Amino acid sequence: MNQEVIIVRGNHTLEGDVQISGAKNSALKLMAASILGQGETVLHNVPLISDIEIMAEVLERLGATVKREEHTLRIDTANVNSCETPYELVSKMRASISVLGPLIGRFGEARVAMPGGCQIGARKIDMHLVGLEALGVHFDVDHGVLEATTPQGMKGAHVYLEFPSVGATENMLMAAVTAEGHTAIENAACEPEIEDLANMLNAMGAKVSGAGTSLIEIEGVPLSSLHPCEHTTVGDRIEAGTFLVGGALTGGPLTVRGIDPAFLRMAIMKLRAMGCEVQTGKDWITVSREAPLCSVDIQTLPHPGFPTDLQAQFMLLAALADDVSVITENVFENRFMFAAELMRMGADVTLDDHHAIVRGVDHLQGAPVSSTDLRAGAALVLAGIVADGETSVHHLEHIDRGYEDYAGKLASLGADIRRVAAPSPR
Ligand code: UD1
Repeated sequence: MNQEVIIVRGNHTLEGDVQISGAKNSALKLMAASILGQGETVLHNVPLISDIEIMAEVLERLGATVKREEHTLRIDTANVNSCETPYELVSKMRASISVLGPLIGRFGEARVAMPGGCQIGARKIDMHLVGLEALGVHFDVDHGVLEATTPQGMKGAHVYLEFPSVGATENMLMAAVTAEGHTAIENAACEPEIEDLANMLNAMGAKVSGAGTSLIEIEGVPLSSLHPCEHTTVGDRIEAGTFLVGGALTGGPLTVRGIDPAFLRMAIMKLRAMGCEVQTGKDWITVSREAPLCSVDIQTLPHPGFPTDLQAQFMLLAALADDVSVITENVFENRFMFAAELMRMGADVTLDDHHAIVRGVDHLQGAPVSSTDLRAGAALVLAGIVADGETSVHHLEHIDRGYEDYAGKLASLGADIRRVAAPSPR
């Protein structure tokens, strides 16, 4: 357990430039895909965050060696000799199940502990299984472990996903690259991280087209024709969106660098609707604001809709807007836990099932608060930056899962912020 807290003093403006790290949600899957390369894959722009360390541990347990030099990972999967990912790792990080597809692709079998429930909803894996079963994978559950076998090998198939699940699309994609013949994934997730994964798989010798759209097509190739590659992770659109919210809250101007603005079209649209000026270039976005924040309605949807991973940050903006905003969460159940912490700082939020009615207030007050999940934690720190007085944010282990040097980057933008040892309980 992380024994530190972030202490932040409010009423500071965030301005200047910040370099955005590589996308967590991409790098994790690229690491899993390295299993198919059967040699040394080199990944650049990998963020220094704890989720990446857990995925490195997952790969090491399978027999891979993982070396890090700053933001570059060298993953040698030549000697992977186990197909088993234990519960102790899957329970630490649900994304561990993304080794399922590549393990099946490489060995025709896998044993991966079933992920349990999770704080932000039930998060089932039924669609992962339906997609893989269509390719000929057979599943049994033995004492909480999902056992995958392919008694007749894998054959390409046409699958229509019930919902564009990111994880299900990725697992199916990574298995299908070595299935015999043609696979089509309809209603596939369109997130930029899936396109990044497909680009890497193609650099390894796979034949994937259409990634980034809702129809992904794969021509299977023999495992022997896949090889390791060198790949650079795309920028993290959620980290970028989080800093943009910081700029919008305090006025900026704040520029995020190392991010394709096309990844954040919907968030940029909402920032403008809230009264912000937003300028974009090839790999940067600048936000500034002089007018008061306007209220806005937001509903989270799969990409290119508004990302659920920016919902908490935008709820914070709405909490300080001039009127009433309605935020609707359509992707995950139970993702409004953040609202309770924000209310402790003076926000006026009413929850009604998957809607949050947010009535703007003039100011927030600093308070001790707890990160309830990764994005909520990041948003609470931003809340502290605009609140009166001092805020202490606890349970930093959530923030550390996905934000590289969050406090350091905010300090470089002008925040009065420090990480200190948590006071010992009395
Ligand atoms: C990924 C991201 C997460 C992001 C989410 C949605 C990673 C590591 N995490 O999570 O940050 O918030 O996409 O953009 O990349 N579902 C089912 N059955 C399934 C699969 C999903 O019911 O088999 C449901 C989930 O419970 C959830 C919804 O579908 O309600 C979306 O899940 P999914 O798109 O799969 O998200 P993840 O891949 O888990």
